[in-house]
Amino acid sequence: MSDIHVVVLAAGKGTRMKSARPKVLHVAAGLPLIDHVLRAASALSPLSIVIIIGHQAGQLKDALHSRTGLAFAVQEPQLGTGHALLQAEPLLEGASGTLVLLSGDVPLLRAASLAALVRTHEARGAAATVLTAVVPSPAGYGRIVRDEGGRIAGIVEHKDASPAEREIGEINSGVYAFDMKPLFAALREIGSSNAQGEYYLPDLVRIYRDRGLTVEAVTLEDSREILGVNSRKELAEVAAILRAEKNEALMASGVTIVDPATTYIAPDVTVGPDTVIHPGVHLEGRTQIGSGCEIHSGVRIVDSAVADGVLIHNFCVILESQVSSGARIGPFAHIRPQSNVGADAHVGNFVELKNTSLGQGAKANHLSYLGDATIGRKVNVGAGTITCNYDGAAKHRTVIDDGAFIGSDSQLVAPVRVGAGAYVAAGSTITRDVPPDALAIGRGTQVNKDGWVSKNKKK
Ligand code: UD1
Ligand code: CA
Repeated sequence: MSDIHVVVLAAGKGTRMKSARPKVLHVAAGLPLIDHVLRAASALSPLSIVIIIGHQAGQLKDALHSRTGLAFAVQEPQLGTGHALLQAEPLLEGASGTLVLLSGDVPLLRAASLAALVRTHEARGAAATVLTAVVPSPAGYGRIVRDEGGRIAGIVEHKDASPAEREIGEINSGVYAFDMKPLFAALREIGSSNAQGEYYLPDLVRIYRDRGLTVEAVTLEDSREILGVNSRKELAEVAAILRAEKNEALMASGVTIVDPATTYIAPDVTVGPDTVIHPGVHLEGRTQIGSGCEIHSGVRIVDSAVADGVLIHNFCVILESQVSSGARIGPFAHIRPQSNVGADAHVGNFVELKNTSLGQGAKANHLSYLGDATIGRKVNVGAGTITCNYDGAAKHRTVIDDGAFIGSDSQLVAPVRVGAGAYVAAGSTITRDVPPDALAIGRGTQVNKDGWVSKNKKK
């Protein structure tokens, strides 16, 4: 392949999204639309990627600033796709090779299809190659007009098309490969006398044909790849396709997904074989799930690592945390960031962990808040235990050493340490360190007043 430069069009208004957010930043299957496009583009190992921005340019640039290797060209005002591509010229001065043009709102395009487009384009020595698709309902798209020899002769936009042309089922995907040499000079020849008064990039096809330059078309096998997002309805449709692809890949690798239609797994998530995922599970971000796990309905896991053989009961939320092998979680557990659940540990119902590590085989089975705590191996945290980690100004740590037993309904006022093997009596408020092997009792002593009830009861 020759040098590749990518240009992504993203200056348009996205009117039908009815959104304050730029269209290409709307999320489908866990990633902004533009990231799906950039991933496909990066598989071509381009020397440069230029994004054409215009409408909501500032917001878009800010959102994309962390992506490396992007250059931005502003198109103001937005006079059409031909005019949009022209804005990349100053950034590509002196560059040669193949320019691949993509749309920021077409997220299903596969890297393999782009590679095939570039291969055909270069093999045929074409000045332009258009990626096309044959679709059942072509309304709205530009139609591919072919000559008697079956070669692409031009593209006519839906609004400019005659009734006969509207019958054509082959459409322009809006994705092209261009030889950079004649490109920018030719873009200046595009006019705007058409139904929309815009400078149409597809007009380049006719301009090149008139000059005797080679124009090719490559037709996609799966026409869904060119689906664009112009509305919230299309956003949901595209997301459903991306999701189905991810689920199918996981099932092919040995994961059981009980109901793929209601299972939401982001593109970068990994899941090991023989893991069973029940309906209504969301696995997001860079989550990694081991093998032989079972994840019940209504669980959401974000940017977390779950090892092998973990059982997660219904309705748990796990964020930016680690769960070691054999652990059991939930139902209704909330594991907040920077937590670490040890091997074979149990986190039961209505237990919240935050920035807390729970040692191997430790148990916190019922109704607890464990924040900023380091909890050792085989510790038993009784029902209703609370680490009082916040004094109104600063956070403090609670340390519970190996084998300690915390009686139910205890408060551990941090900073505080419970030594190895120590016992804390139920209902205690612990404000001082407990030595190893000691019993700490921090509660009022019980008084029984005999006959008090009948004496005081109103007759
Ligand atoms: C375009 C094509 C059409 C094709 C369809 C495929 C033209 C004239 N028509 O139509 O043949 O079938 O895509 O989806 O190109 N944009 C800018 N600046 C502009 C105008 C548009 O950056 O001045 C960007 C938009 O943000 C979008 C892309 O270009 O990412 C396509 O523009 P859009 O208005 O959606 O074109 P379509 O009417 O869909
Ligand atoms: Ca479009």
